[in-house]
This record gives sequence, C-alpha cells and structure tokens, in this order.
Amino acid sequence: MKILITGGAGFIGSHFAVKMLEEQQEVSIIDNLHPYYSPERKKQHLEVIKQSGNFDFYQADLLNREETIGIIKRISPDAVVHLAALPGVAYSILRPLEYIDYDVKATVNVLEGAGQAGVKQVIFASSSSVYGSMRNIPFKEEMATGKPISPYAASKYAAESFCHVYGHLYGMEMKILRFFTVFGPWGRPDMAIANFIKKLKNGEEITVFGQGGSRDYTYVSDIVNGISLALHKLQGSSIINIGSGRPISMEQLLYELKRYFPDMKIRHEGDRAGDVERTWADLSLAREMLGYEPKVDFSKGIEETVAWADQYEKIL
Ligand SMILES: NC(=O)c1ccc[n+]([C@@H]2O[C@H](COP(=O)([O-])OP(=O)(O)OC[C@H]3O[C@@H](n4cnc5c(N)ncnc54)[C@H](O)[C@@H]3O)[C@@H](O)[C@H]2O)c1
Repeated sequence: MKILITGGAGFIGSHFAVKMLEEQQEVSIIDNLHPYYSPERKKQHLEVIKQSGNFDFYQADLLNREETIGIIKRISPDAVVHLAALPGVAYSILRPLEYIDYDVKATVNVLEGAGQAGVKQVIFASSSSVYGSMRNIPFKEEMATGKPISPYAASKYAAESFCHVYGHLYGMEMKILRFFTVFGPWGRPDMAIANFIKKLKNGEEITVFGQGGSRDYTYVSDIVNGISLALHKLQGSSIINIGSGRPISMEQLLYELKRYFPDMKIRHEGDRAGDVERTWADLSLAREMLGYEPKVDFSKGIEETVAWADQYEKIL
C-alpha cells in the first residue's frame, strides 16, 4: 500500500512511519520541520525512520495550497495519514491564529489534495481535547458537542468538520482518530512526561500546574497500532478514540518518576488556562470496530521512556 504521512518527521509520525516500513508499505512523508520544537530533533526522527527502510521525503509547508495539492497528486497514495499540525494547548492561547492556519487551513489543503488525487481513505489525527471540560467520564465519541476550551481544541474540532465535508464531496473514507495524551521514546519535549524527565535528569525542579488533574496517558506504540488497525481493518468513515482507557493522576505520575529520580523537586503553580482537568477514553468503539486493545501499561511505558532518555537525551 502507498501511504502518505503528513507530519512524518514528528513524534507520532516518525513512530508510525517505522511501523509502516516494517510492514513493507511504500511510505512518503511531507513535513516542513516546523520550529515549534527543535527542527534538529525532527531531522533525527527522520534518521531513525531511515534505519527501517527507504521513503520519499518532501520538505514542504502544507499551508502552500498549490504545492500541497501538486505533491499529493504526484504521489497518488492509497491512503493519507494526516498527522501534521501545530500541537500544544498553552501555545495556542498565545497564538490562536496560527492554529487556524496550521490545524485548519493546512488540513483543508490536504483534504483537497487527497480528493483531487482520488485517495480512498484519509486518517485524521484529532485529539481528546475536543471533549472540553467534560464531567461525564469516560469520554464516548458522541459526547464532543463543539464546546472545547482552547484554540488548539477548537481547531481540531473544526478540522474534524472539514474532514466530514471533504469525505462527502469526494467520497473518501474519513477515519478520525482522537488520540489521548501520547508519551514514549522521542516524546514531544513540550509535553509533561518528556519535559519532566529531561528536567529531572538535569537535576532541575519540575512545575506542576493546578491540582495536576488526570490524563489517559497512552504509550506511543499503542497509538501507532491504533492507526494501523484503522488503516487496514476499518471500512467506511468513523470517529474513534485511541487511548489507554486508564486515567493516571498527577500523583501517580510523580510516584512513578520518583522511582527513577528519588530526589526530585516540585514547584506548584496555579491552574493553566485551556488545560482540561481530566481525560479518560471510552474504548468500546475502538475495541468493536478495530479490535484495538492497548498493550503497554503505564509503569512499563515510563520505564521505556526513562531508558530512552538515558540513551538519547544527552546527545539531543
Ligand atoms: N502527542 C499527543 O499527545 C497528541 C494527542 C492528541 C492528538 N495529537 C495529534 O497528533 C498529531 C501528531 O502529534 P505529535 O505529538 O507527533 O506532534 P509533532 O509536533 O511531533 O508532529 C507534527 C509534525 O507536523 C509538522 N508540521 C506542522 N505543520 C506543518 C505544515 N504546515 N506543513 C508540513 N508539516 C507540518 C511538524 O514539523 C511536525 O514534525 C498532531 O495532529 C497532534 O495534534 C497528538
């Protein structure tokens, strides 16, 4: 199968590209190495992917409509896995318009390109943040009703709508996957677990905002497995949660980290605007429609992530 991965030089994208090459799929990547975090780090991700096989790489900005449509038509993939985005809730409050560009307009360009190229299926990386401040838990797919609480989440929700539009216009299968807080080796440096581990390794204190809340932390290999199942097993269009189905409180996270960093120092600050208090994925649909089952428990995931940081963080 010919697969185009947008954002393939990113955290999840690079893990997914490795999995696709291991499956002997034909892989192309579009990524502009956006400086939201170090482009050098993204180049390293590309080097890691190369160890699993050859792929075509296009360094291009999906905001460039003509170029994006042109590249997708030239590749003419069977499937587009659209992971490119500007991530991060906190930054989206500072720069909301950039999220309309990178997370909405760029998505529309990809969808138009996919439609014109006659692509059969598009997988879109959405987010648990679209559920907003939900009291009912766990989150079922139908509970997202357009009441997000950050520009990032609003952009993802808007992009989901555009997926629906373009699925309708071009008759493409539209598979919207809502990922729940992803962690693991090469984890995004702006996210709590990666940020904490890096600071703790350097003997710096870490900052916990508000009461810390709880998150449905999901190990990256489970996310990548969910994408692969959606690609190969799912027929038709759907919106599906991909998570661990097991919320972890900040206390539990700190307890796990303390096993590796017994002297850790913590600074507490007030609530951060835009952060939801808790997330918890209902996985009934993922189980039923994909046969998805998360495999990596939280302690094991932290162990693997710390081991990775021991090996790599000092050279990054
Ligand atoms: N990591 C998580 O916990 C999480 C949770 C929910 C959803 N998601 C979504 O999953 C996707 C991947 O997330 P990630 O954590 O790997 O982020 P990431 O920042 O590591 O990867 C995104 C990649 O997209 C690229 N990109 C951004 N804008 C682009 C553009 N205009 N043109 C070309 N390339 C562009 C970036 O350079 C980057 O390499 C994103 O859509 C994100 O919103 C992530």
